[in-house]
Amino acid sequence: MGVMGMLHAGTLNSLKNVKVVAVTEPEKLVVKFIQTFLPNIKVYENYVEMLKKENLDFVYITTPVKSHVLIAEYCAKNNIPFFVEKPLSKTATECEELCKILNKNSITNMVGFNLRYSSTFTKAKELLDKKAIGDILNVKATAYRTLVLKEGTGWRFKKESSGGGVLIDIGIHVIDLLLLFFGKIKNVSTEKISFVIPEIDDSVTGLLRFENGLTCIFETSWNVKNYRLQETTLEINGTLGKIKVNEDYVKIQYFESDEESNEEILYRQSLYKGVHLDIGGSMYASEDADFVNCLENGTQPGSNVINSIQVQSVIDSIYKSSKSNKQEGVIYIE
Ligand SMILES: NC(=O)c1ccc[n+]([C@@H]2O[C@H](COP(=O)([O-])OP(=O)(O)OC[C@H]3O[C@@H](n4cnc5c(N)ncnc54)[C@H](O)[C@@H]3O)[C@@H](O)[C@H]2O)c1
Repeated sequence: MGVMGMLHAGTLNSLKNVKVVAVTEPEKLVVKFIQTFLPNIKVYENYVEMLKKENLDFVYITTPVKSHVLIAEYCAKNNIPFFVEKPLSKTATECEELCKILNKNSITNMVGFNLRYSSTFTKAKELLDKKAIGDILNVKATAYRTLVLKEGTGWRFKKESSGGGVLIDIGIHVIDLLLLFFGKIKNVSTEKISFVIPEIDDSVTGLLRFENGLTCIFETSWNVKNYRLQETTLEINGTLGKIKVNEDYVKIQYFESDEESNEEILYRQSLYKGVHLDIGGSMYASEDADFVNCLENGTQPGSNVINSIQVQSVIDSIYKSSKSNKQEGVIYIE
């Protein structure tokens, strides 16, 4: 019941037909907080005990990364639908068993790639699908957030708990969007990587090559200044125009002729469709509503474990390339 646990619990509790009835939290101070302010919610110290005693319709896994797969596997084996925050896991290979279980038993499951629910990225995908800027020539993708200019504390700064640094923390959102927009990435070359402490990268730059021949320059960093909030940007060049999209707007430039172009900017405010409750951003409300909707209809959300393993496979290859100093092919775990 940390930051994301509270955000999702509040959002879910406000949905029709949903009630948060139990949580697992090992930290005594947080337990005291929940018992004081949320007396109707049962608190367990251990998720196995909670899942054995409570007859839950679904589970939200919002723990540090190292426990995601273990808890998800327990849910999958016991037919309990689940949502797991991004990143799904520390590495793709860690998900092999989970993948096998879900391929046999397709319970509703979702991985928290909330940018898929952003109105601006949704609009950009719609434009690309309509070939609004023609054939795609190349892409530049970045994800920045000013987080550390020196070593931080907590699970994010221990590879054993987090799986790595900025790449697996925020760069992963870009990789998920790139796979969704342009299909599979064939190989990667990591050009530059820096570390805030050993094994915790704070800046990564590389080149991604897609199976369809497209290339993308990619950069993610925690150590750039003036990004108080995460900013994820895709700049897509096409034969008929270009698109720049981030969390705030989509800018579309249509080439009229060699000299002239026509520009349109769509801000997220004008694309806003309304959500039932907005705690930390409307994307999270849409994400949670979609999960519950899929659960009620027995369907699978677009961002589920099986396709998120592809995202993890690309992340693994970028880290591998940073060590080998050469291009690495992406080996997809299916
Ligand atoms: N989608 C997003 O935009 C977004 C944003 C931030 C974080 N996240 C992800 O959400 C997850 C959690 O991040 P956070 O910032 O909320 O972390 P956090 O440290 O605030 O919260 C984690 C909580 O899990 C508890 N915990 C630890 N081990 C546990 C276990 N075995 N069982 C039950 N509870 C346990 C901790 O005591 C803590 O309360 C991470 O995977 C992170 O990458 C996603």
